[in-house]
Amino acid sequence: MQTVKVYGGHRLHGEITVSGSKNAGLPALAATILAPGISRLESVPDLADVHTMIELLRSLGCKVKREDKAIIVDAHNITSTEAPYNLVRRMRASVLIMGALLSRTGQAKVAMPGGCAIGTRPIDLHIKGFKALGIEISNNYGCIEGKASGKTAGATVYLDFPSVGATENLMMLATTTPGITVIENAAREPEIVDLATMLNSMGARINGAGTTTIRIIGVDQLYPTNHRIIPDRIEAGTFMVAAAITKGNVVIKNTLEHHLCPIVAKISEIGAKIKNYGEVMQVVGPMQIQSTDIHTLPYPGFPTDMQAQMMALLTLGSGVSVISETVFENRFRHVNELGRMGAKIRTDGSKAIVKGVDRLYGVKVQASDLRAGAALILAGLAAGGVTEVNGINHIDRGYENLEDKLRKIGARVARTGTVKKQVIGE
Ligand code: UD1
Repeated sequence: MQTVKVYGGHRLHGEITVSGSKNAGLPALAATILAPGISRLESVPDLADVHTMIELLRSLGCKVKREDKAIIVDAHNITSTEAPYNLVRRMRASVLIMGALLSRTGQAKVAMPGGCAIGTRPIDLHIKGFKALGIEISNNYGCIEGKASGKTAGATVYLDFPSVGATENLMMLATTTPGITVIENAAREPEIVDLATMLNSMGARINGAGTTTIRIIGVDQLYPTNHRIIPDRIEAGTFMVAAAITKGNVVIKNTLEHHLCPIVAKISEIGAKIKNYGEVMQVVGPMQIQSTDIHTLPYPGFPTDMQAQMMALLTLGSGVSVISETVFENRFRHVNELGRMGAKIRTDGSKAIVKGVDRLYGVKVQASDLRAGAALILAGLAAGGVTEVNGINHIDRGYENLEDKLRKIGARVARTGTVKKQVIGE
């Protein structure tokens, strides 16, 4: 098992560069199969979830290669329409292949993803949308199978919750569904806008991405494209917390300020000074972290994917902070581990009450999921002594070269061990 040792107590200082977005890169890779031809995606991060999506594309018949930060997908031949269980269980975002496969081939079979560390995470909204567009759905032996019937046509779909994945899956299917599809209560995340931009560059006709109503006029065919993935706002937010928690002074490159509004607001509230210079952001941590409250919400609310990292920061706050998690039902598994480092946190249902302490202590801790792992590394950067974070395979799913990047700005972090085990999650 691999672990990361964090030797805490060093102020971070210097420049760090954010990679392309994991959560924009995964649907973009799925979208390449919409067009028979060769598409090129720039700025795709090199991390475990991307490797899984590439494996999935290859299992469907695509030829995929990486050229530095770009991934080139040759989707001329789709030879299978089935996403196997061993890939879906490894990464839930594999279900994003379903909308693209249905659009391209009229059929798709995807193993049911099941639950994961942060909640049960059903895909009922994806299925409701597919059915509304005329897809016949059957559920056999743990697999969801979709077939385009003769009656496939655009429709209005109301999402009971603005699910990111359901919005993406439906957008992909609707690109070539005859007629007009309207997604009401659509997710508004920047990753949705990025996918719509890519799909429109392939010949799709999508309007309203980034608002609650997305309108898609079906076209006959999509064409290959070249598309650059947006920067990862969660990685940027993680580095902002790293600067703040170590009283550091860090310049973060490749950021888009308008994607970071809720994170900038909260990190300013705890007393950090933030300056923007185009696509560069400077974060100077405060001498004393102020407490504040956090309420996770779909975009443009505060992202659930930054909740754990903010909790690490608020453990050192001047008073009491209340964190409400409204997106996932089981996303406080980092609480006990932070507690082992000296944090004072009590949970009450979907709320965590964090009473600031003067210092954290380095101990052995276990990452339960991707962002929980990031939170433990951040806590370790500020803690006295050595924090040994286990379950690093979770962190590898979503951060590109995290330790190298942190080392360049003065963190003392080292990885030990060799075995990499694939895990399920976000
Ligand atoms: C995406 C992100 C993930 C992020 C999440 C919320 C990717 C690859 N992952 O996940 O990092 O934490 O958005 O911002 O982009 N739900 C249902 N039925 C459905 C679909 C979702 O009840 O059919 C529920 C989920 O259980 C969850 C909530 O809706 O409680 C949000 O899920 P969703 O927005 O779909 O998240 P993902 O797309 O899975």
